[in-house]
Order: sequence, then structure tokens, then C-alpha cells
Amino acid sequence: MERRWNWVAVFLLLLLGAYSVDGFIGIQWGRYASQSLVPSVVVDLLLQNGIKEIKLSAPSPNVLEALQSSNIGITVALQNDFIRRDKWLSNIKNVSQWVEELLLEPVQRGVHIQTLIILEEPLSLYRTPVLNMTDVFQETVSNLHRCNLTHIRTTTTHSSDVLKNVSKPSQADFRDDIKDKMLESLRLFKKTNSFFMYNMVPIFSLMVNKWPIEFAFMDNNSTFTIVDGKYTYRNAFEFLFDCLVVTLEKAGYPDMEIVIGEIGWPTDGGKYATPENAERFYRGFLKHISEKKGTPRRPKWNIDVFLSSLTDENKVPLQLGPSYRHRGIYNFDGTPKFAIDFTGKGRLMFPVLAQGSLKMPSRWCVFNGDTSNMTKVEEQFQYACTLSDCSSLSPYSSCSQLDLKSNVSFAFNMFYQTSNQDQKNGGCDFAGLGALTTRDPSMGTCYFPVEILTAEKVDAGIQIPTYIGYDRSGAHALRSFATPQLLFIALSLLYLIWPNN
Ligand SMILES: *[C@@H]1O[C@H](CO)[C@@H](O)[C@H](O)[C@H]1NC(C)=O
Ligand SMILES: *[C@@H]1O[C@H](CO)[C@@H](O)[C@H](O)[C@H]1NC(C)=O
Ligand SMILES: *[C@@H]1O[C@H](CO)[C@@H](O)[C@H](O)[C@H]1NC(C)=O
Ligand SMILES: *[C@@H]1O[C@H](CO)[C@@H](O)[C@H](O)[C@H]1NC(C)=O
Ligand SMILES: *[C@@H]1O[C@H](CO)[C@@H](O)[C@H](O)[C@H]1NC(C)=O
Ligand SMILES: *[C@@H]1O[C@H](CO)[C@@H](O)[C@H](O)[C@H]1NC(C)=O
Ligand SMILES: *[C@@H]1O[C@H](CO)[C@@H](O)[C@H](O)[C@H]1NC(C)=O
Ligand SMILES: *[C@@H]1O[C@H](CO)[C@@H](O)[C@H](O)[C@H]1NC(C)=O
Repeated sequence: MERRWNWVAVFLLLLLGAYSVDGFIGIQWGRYASQSLVPSVVVDLLLQNGIKEIKLSAPSPNVLEALQSSNIGITVALQNDFIRRDKWLSNIKNVSQWVEELLLEPVQRGVHIQTLIILEEPLSLYRTPVLNMTDVFQETVSNLHRCNLTHIRTTTTHSSDVLKNVSKPSQADFRDDIKDKMLESLRLFKKTNSFFMYNMVPIFSLMVNKWPIEFAFMDNNSTFTIVDGKYTYRNAFEFLFDCLVVTLEKAGYPDMEIVIGEIGWPTDGGKYATPENAERFYRGFLKHISEKKGTPRRPKWNIDVFLSSLTDENKVPLQLGPSYRHRGIYNFDGTPKFAIDFTGKGRLMFPVLAQGSLKMPSRWCVFNGDTSNMTKVEEQFQYACTLSDCSSLSPYSSCSQLDLKSNVSFAFNMFYQTSNQDQKNGGCDFAGLGALTTRDPSMGTCYFPVEILTAEKVDAGIQIPTYIGYDRSGAHALRSFATPQLLFIALSLLYLIWPNN
């Protein structure tokens, strides 16, 4: 009999082991762009890079279809716009239809939807407030139950501005104006065995807190540190994470799981937004996460993260700053921007190039130089920028050094390319100010792109994508705890119940 209990002990240890090896580095793929890589190319990219979790802005049917045959875990969002202020009643009724069509159907086809984000950053200072957040949450959860989709975990994303600005983590708490709502959400998360999804933008926090740039990186090179009682902070990530840990403790949830829904570093569109800094940020961050170092207040905790983002998104609203359009690890055409080792081992390697992404003909549209009517030039410049993306012209960006003429050329080309070099759209006319060229007008750090051919127009169902998300669900744990363990458990149980004579 004693031998049997040894087996039980071994079995329990293995079971614990299987759970603690969990944790992942996933990636966010927002498609708020004029053109986007086709989903099958992206699935290939993820598989080749060994990325097993993806976070999507919306459960677009064609994207889910491409993911169907893969084993990639998926996080999707029920976006804020779905629950519009003016259509509150009709849309909340439509949640049931939404769940059936966009979650139940794909799951029945074998798509691994693991997490549903119910509303994205509804309490962020930058967003239109959502009414009846709790009702939306409860209605959605009850529909998941009705459809037998209880394996899908539910949560809501939060930006770091749900917390007050503080100088030490021990002072951290929710903003006063939303504290009641946050406590209500936490009660719901607890009740539904959920977790807290937190989106971080270290480059913004650096500006808000006026920290020196070195504090953003995790290679322990910062001479600026923040001492908080017995804890010392040497980088922004640990500081921001622990601010949330303290806040959750104060609210009575010291053990609530935290998943980073979005974190990354932009490569253009603002001060410090460069490929070199992005490479350095990811190298230190991925190493820290993969070594499971945790933070001063949660040492050795495993932290699941979604990197933000897979590709640039040239249609993200500019209110968050031009750099928000340049958060991609990849350019819009599937070429990697800098070296990154997704395993966190810090090897100097470029990620896999997107396969099968072809460019359109090498043709650019530029300004013909006719400055006789500057009102007209200015008008056409504004028109081109408004309908495409001139974020690279903004201060500190890759094209901020251009002269006026080149500025106009850049804008014309962006419009021409983002409209697929399409003549019907006005093409390269610009009231007679445009001229086509086959000579690449790129100069210095300023790149004049050519659109990709194998792109797709993003389906209309997608709303403003944005910030990020994840899961450490039962389903996920079960996958990592695969066949050998299950076989072993079965054998152990058989041994235990076998008649003993
Ligand atoms: C649900 O949405 C569809 C499509 O937008 C709309 O036609 C329908 O009226 C909505 N249903 C309800 C109950 O609001
Ligand atoms: C949701 O909010 C709207 C607008 O404030 C209100 O009219 C409605 O009664 C609320 N619904 C519920 C179920 O509380
Ligand atoms: C959920 O499961 C129950 C019991 O197995 C079944 O009767 C019901 O049809 C299922 N509902 C859906 C939407 O699949
Ligand atoms: C924190 O400070 C920044 C910059 O001063 C400000 O824009 C932001 O609104 C503040 N956040 C909160 C939650 O008060
Ligand atoms: C980081 O640097 C400080 C000061 O040089 C040192 O005391 C500390 O041990 C270092 N931490 C790690 C994790 O290397
Ligand atoms: C470390 O920090 C110093 C300034 O404090 C800086 O000059 C140096 O470039 C940094 N080292 C690395 C590897 O970035
Ligand atoms: C300059 O262009 C503007 C706008 O296209 C037009 O209204 C105006 O008449 C033009 N001026 C001249 C002198 O042609
Ligand atoms: C080029 O355009 C950008 C963005 O509109 C502007 O900030 C910059 O001043 C312009 N440069 C010149 C020389 O006009």
C-alpha cells in the first residue's frame, strides 16, 4: 500500500510541474491598415517564428479560417463600438448573435479561441466611455454559457492610465473617478475565474513620468533607479507592473493573475522611436520574461505577454500620437525591421521573412515641383495626408528632415501606394501636380514604400484595433500537458484501483 502512495506523490508532482511550465510570449496582430498581409502568410510567419498565441482586434472570419488548421491559441475582442451608445438596446441583444456567428461557429470548426476580451480599455482617458460595462460583460458571459463555450476565458483590457500617476509603486491605486467601476470589474473577474489584462506603452510612460531613456531598457544599465521601501526599481516595466500589483493588493486581490495584453516599442513617429531602441527594448524584455524573473513584488512569477505588434497599422487614429502607427516588429510588407529572438535567448537574429509577399511594380508618385500656386500645393498635400499616412513626417521621425518639396512627394506617394497604385482613385494626378517615376525617391532614413500585391483590404467588420491581450486557460494548460503526462496519469490511476492481492 505504501508503494501506492509514492506513486500518488509522483503523480501529483508531475501534475504541478505540468501547470508551472505554462506561460507564453504571444503577439498582437491589429489590421487597422489600408492593406494588410493575407492571413495565411501571417499564420505561416507565426509558425516559423514559433509563436503559439495571437491576439486579434476582431474575430474576422477569414483570419479565423486561416488559423483553423494551426494549433495557435487565439484571443479576440468584442469591441467597444459594438455596444454603441445610440444603439445600446438593439446591440446588447445582438451579443447572442455575435457569439453564435463569430465564436461558436469557428470553435465548432476547430479554431482555438481561448480568450475573449469583452471591451477594450473601456476606462481609458483616451476613449469614449462605454455604458453599462457590467451588463455587457454579464450578457456576453451568459451567452458563452448558453453556447457551451465555457472553456473560453473572458476579461477586459486596461491601459496603464486606469492607475493614478505616482512616484512609487507603494502609492499606486486606481484613478478616483473610476475606482468603483474597477472594483466592480474585479469582482466579476474573480467570480468568473478570470485575470487582469494590462496594456503597457513604456515609451509613453517614460514621457509622462519624465524618466531618463535608459530606464526604459531592461539590460540593467540605468543609473536612475527608484527606491520604494525594500524594493529597488531599475526599469520602467517592473515599476509599471508592480504599480498594478499594489493596486490589486489594496483592492483585496493579491493573487490575481496579470497578463500583459500589449507591450512593445515603436520604430518611428516620435522621440526615441527607432529600430535600434526597439531591438534593445525587446532583447532585454524577452530575456526577462523567458527567464521568469518576475518583478520585485512578484519575484519569479511567470508573466504571459502579447507583444505589440506584428505589423504596422497606418490607419490607427492619430490621437495617440504618430508612433502608434509604427509599432510593428514587421513592416507592412512582411519584412522584419530589426533583430529579435522570440525565445528570449538574446541571439542576434532576424525573424523569418513573410513568404510569398510580392510587391507592386516599382513605381512611385512624386510632386512635379510646380510651386506657382502654393494654395493648391498645400491643399493637395493635406488631401493626400488625410487619406493616407504622413506620420513619418512628424518631428523626430524618419522623414522629418525633408524639405517642403520632398514633403509633398512623400504625401503623394503614400496616397498613391495606399490606394494600390490605382489610377481610378485619381491615381497620381493631384490636380496636375503629380508625376510618376521609376527612380526610387527614398533618401537617407526616409523610405518611400511601394505597396504589396499580395495584400488584402481588411474586412469591414473590423473597428479601431488597438491595444492588446491573453490566456492561461484550462484549455491552454491542457495542451501543454500533453499525451505523455495523460498516459502516465491513466496508468497511475489504473495501478491505484487495480485489485491488490
Ligand atoms: C443585429 O445586427 C444585424 C446586422 O447589423 C441587424 O440587421 C439586426 O437588426 C440586429 N439585431 C438586433 C436584435 O438588433
Ligand atoms: C444602460 O444604460 C442606459 C443609458 O444610461 C440606460 O438607459 C439603461 O437602462 C441601462 N441598462 C441597464 C440594463 O442598466
Ligand atoms: C450545449 O450542450 C447541451 C448539452 O450537451 C446541448 O443540449 C445543447 O444543444 C448545446 N448547445 C449548443 C448551442 O451547442
Ligand atoms: C498622468 O500625467 C500625464 C502627464 O502629466 C497626464 O497626461 C495624465 O492624464 C495623467 N494620468 C492620470 C491618470 O492622472
Ligand atoms: C544591476 O546593477 C546593479 C548596480 O550596478 C547591481 O547592484 C545589480 O545586482 C544588478 N542587477 C542584476 C540583476 O544584474
Ligand atoms: C549605458 O548607459 C550610459 C549612460 O548612462 C550610456 O552612455 C550607454 O550607451 C549605455 N549602454 C548601452 C549598452 O546602451
Ligand atoms: C490656386 O489654387 C486654388 C485651389 O485649387 C484655386 O482656388 C485658386 O484659384 C488658384 N489660384 C490661381 C491664381 O490660379
Ligand atoms: C513637412 O510636413 C510635416 C508634417 O506636416 C511638417 O511638420 C513639416 O514642417 C513639413 N516640412 C516642411 C519643410 O514644410
